Amino acid sequence: MPSQLPQADRDPEHMQGHWVLAQLGKRVLRPGGERLTMRMLANTPLNGKHVVEFAPGLGRTTRLILNAKPAAYTGVDRDPQVVNIITPLAASVGGTCVQADAADTGLPAGSADVVVGEAMLTMQSERGKRAIIGEARRILKPGGLYAIHEMGLAPDDLDNTVKTAIRKDLARVIRVNARPLTAAEWRNLLESEGFEVLWSGVEPMALLKMRRNLADEGVRGVLRIMRNVLTHPDLRARVLQMRRVFNTYGDSLTGIAFVVRRKG
Ligand SMILES: C[S@@+](CC[C@H](N)C(=O)[O-])C[C@H]1O[C@@H](n2cnc3c(N)ncnc32)[C@H](O)[C@@H]1O
Repeated sequence: MPSQLPQADRDPEHMQGHWVLAQLGKRVLRPGGERLTMRMLANTPLNGKHVVEFAPGLGRTTRLILNAKPAAYTGVDRDPQVVNIITPLAASVGGTCVQADAADTGLPAGSADVVVGEAMLTMQSERGKRAIIGEARRILKPGGLYAIHEMGLAPDDLDNTVKTAIRKDLARVIRVNARPLTAAEWRNLLESEGFEVLWSGVEPMALLKMRRNLADEGVRGVLRIMRNVLTHPDLRARVLQMRRVFNTYGDSLTGIAFVVRRKG
């Protein structure tokens, strides 16, 4: 098992869900998979732009951003091991990765054309979400774009008791206080923080489904994950718990992405 991954020294029982999956060999750690990322980035011009990526994780989207030849790239992640993974990638185009909270990046105001952030707002409280969205707005130039890919709830009028049950069960199995929102709630949140929505898209929440994993990780990746699942009973138990909850809520959980423009 790779020891340079975040939380590798933690016992599997207490590891956050996304790092459990990373330990097992998963590299795409976002709810709508690579497909939703590609759809989001197709609506986000990156070539020649100054791009900031919040929470690059293991760097899958970082590579896509760098392949688009941005004028500059800065990653921001609070995890020092992520910074170690992303720094050499960023350096290949003269970019950097800083260790910071995305709510307080220390980057200059109005310096970015595009901010990209995936699978990182859902795990924040309402206040935390607002602080990060506000920071994206602060570092963007007027008219700059913010692209997010997060966990969604559907439909918009989903019963409050179901929402509460989903949040409780997610927190229990992924060891993160995940608070997914409905499409309308994400939209309202982004608009109330000074953005206008240009595009949004939805994909099934299929993080642990075979077909999605073949698409995201490839045949060799899936074989590696399966071998690791079979040989690590403690991590396997965590994955099975997560899968049970994801399956229980089926279509009520989605991957959802937005591309929004800074107003003013
Ligand atoms: C689920 S992983 C997603 C990684 C990657 N974006 C992806 O989609 O594969 C969550 C990432 O968010 C980072 N993160 C969470 N909260 C953060 C915050 N407030 N500031 C900076 N990074 C944060 C974690 O360290 C981790 O790298």
